[in-house]
Amino acid sequence: MGIEVGARRVREEAAAAVAAAGDVATLEQVRLRFLGRKGEVTGLLRAVGALAADERPAAGQLANELRAEIESLLTSRAAALDAVAGTARPRAAGLDVTLDGRVPRLGARHPITAALEEIERIFMHMGFESVEGPEVELERYNFELLNVPADHPARDMQDTFYITDDVLLRTHTSPMQVRYMREHAPRLPVRIIVPGRVFRCDDDATHTPMFHQVEGLVVDRGITLGDLKGTLLTFARAIFSERAQVRLRPSYFPFTEPSAEVDVSCTVCGGTGCHTCKGTGWLEILGAGMVHPRVLENGGYDPEEVTGFAFGMGADRIALLKYGVDDLRLFFANDLRLLRQLRAH
Ligand code: PHE
Repeated sequence: MGIEVGARRVREEAAAAVAAAGDVATLEQVRLRFLGRKGEVTGLLRAVGALAADERPAAGQLANELRAEIESLLTSRAAALDAVAGTARPRAAGLDVTLDGRVPRLGARHPITAALEEIERIFMHMGFESVEGPEVELERYNFELLNVPADHPARDMQDTFYITDDVLLRTHTSPMQVRYMREHAPRLPVRIIVPGRVFRCDDDATHTPMFHQVEGLVVDRGITLGDLKGTLLTFARAIFSERAQVRLRPSYFPFTEPSAEVDVSCTVCGGTGCHTCKGTGWLEILGAGMVHPRVLENGGYDPEEVTGFAFGMGADRIALLKYGVDDLRLFFANDLRLLRQLRAH
């Protein structure tokens, strides 16, 4: 009789546990609890073995029926759980599909990348080809072949990161002048820009150890300083404003003769004088000049036959002006709040 009482209790408990199981994992635990090797039904079957021989058949049958009954409860509950999971799926594996979706944040280009691409586009419309050069450069190309001998004071103008005695991080994009000419001589015209990273031992609000330049080089028969000025004026009007003006101030670079610093009328005040231009009405954005005859020669061109102009502009400076940022280091701090706010396009 003990078996019958036990079987009734197990049947009730099993039915309640199966009904309460809300997911497949819990249902499996219920199965183990009742039908597992150490489960309750197994316990009952074992108890059958301990009964008198004439009681065993009926008790055994009872225990087997109970097992079949619980198995069928488990099977139908599993089917019910499956059906729910397949349709509404209210909380499958921690995912609540009824919640609002997350709005993806769209990325944007870095303001310097955007400025470089805009500079490139403007010069390409003027017929320039855009080429790149190595950031790790031979000293020869960075200095000697640009008419800057070893003891030349101009080397102090650009504090250099040396890697070995004759290998360095380029301090400007000018080494590409000779590299490109050597590859293309004697073909004419040469008309390139060279955007890229350059490196100098500097670090303050307007100088970072890495910054960006865009070099320009034009070589052909009859190129004059007027061509240089016209090209830069066209560029300034395209990138800043229709009303932009440029002025050339005499300067010195060993690889150009004559040389000039080129100013653009201030993009903030339009030339009347303000904080950005320090009251002068002008912003210095590049160095330029007519290619030195020795540099043309080093590139494989005959200075008796051709002339050329070259310029090197600070792309970061142009990005600062375009986006109204006053500390260059902000561009390299990787603060997403700033980059999102600028949202360059
Ligand atoms: N390379 C010079 C600099 O970095 C700029 C420059 C380029 C000047 C080409 C003249 C001609 O300061």
